[in-house]
Amino acid sequence: MDPTAIAILGGTGDQGLGLALRFAKAGRPVVIGSRKLERAQAAADEVRAAVPGAGVEGLDNADAVGKAPIVILSVPFEHTAGTVKAVRERLTPEHVVVSMGVPLATAIGDGAVRTVGVWQGSCAELVASLLPEGVPVVSAFQNVSAHRLRELAHPVECDVVVSGPPAPRKVVLALCELVPGLRGVDGGPLANARYVEGVTALLIGLNVRYKVPEGVGVRFTGLPD
Ligand SMILES: NC(=O)c1ccc[n+]([C@@H]2O[C@H](COP(=O)([O-])OP(=O)(O)OC[C@H]3O[C@@H](n4cnc5c(N)ncnc54)[C@H](OP(=O)(O)O)[C@@H]3O)[C@@H](O)[C@H]2O)c1
Repeated sequence: MDPTAIAILGGTGDQGLGLALRFAKAGRPVVIGSRKLERAQAAADEVRAAVPGAGVEGLDNADAVGKAPIVILSVPFEHTAGTVKAVRERLTPEHVVVSMGVPLATAIGDGAVRTVGVWQGSCAELVASLLPEGVPVVSAFQNVSAHRLRELAHPVECDVVVSGPPAPRKVVLALCELVPGLRGVDGGPLANARYVEGVTALLIGLNVRYKVPEGVGVRFTGLPD
């Protein structure tokens, strides 16, 4: 396993592919995971076309987990548990699992400007509850727009609140610095993920009211450099 590789499960979708493009552009090896090998390979081809020389491959989700110590979950909230259960036997305490999911009410046929309650407190804590003992979960990237990620010519301009156990949290804070315009903000323990996930529903409403289909972002002021 390449210690610098980043796997993105559901990396065939809007957000996952956006992150794959950005991390590949930063020179990191990227493994795109999918339920279907052909979809993963097509997404990897797309990254190579946009980022010549990119170190990217497409695999099915379970094989992707075996190739990278950092595993980003990039599937809609309602498919989070199924995706985690399908790969959890391959995850070890040496992995860092990144939860990016937002429990939007679209999961129950309602709108994207609201969230639904999650018994565990957040999508990230749901993920943690499903994983084997000792596999660390960090929450991040929920407030970043897929559209902005995919516009490689422009910085993303968004703060990323990163929450989880201290050592893996540092690993993910460092990932944020790979993407121009992103700033990692130390969000403390994983329980704070619930606040961050809820902000995404607010941002989706702002996109509509202010007519910003590219997606608005968040910035925290007053933090020391
Ligand atoms: N889009 C955004 O701007 C944005 C912003 C912030 C956070 N997020 C979060 O990022 C995550 C991904 O968002 P997205 O917009 O990229 O989602 P998406 O494009 O709708 O879906 C991502 C991937 O999920 C997989 N998937 C779809 N149905 C599935 C199922 N039934 N079971 C398992 N996997 C399934 C698909 O991969 P395969 O078919 O290849 O397996 C799909 O390409 C979500 O949790 C979302 O809340 C998104």
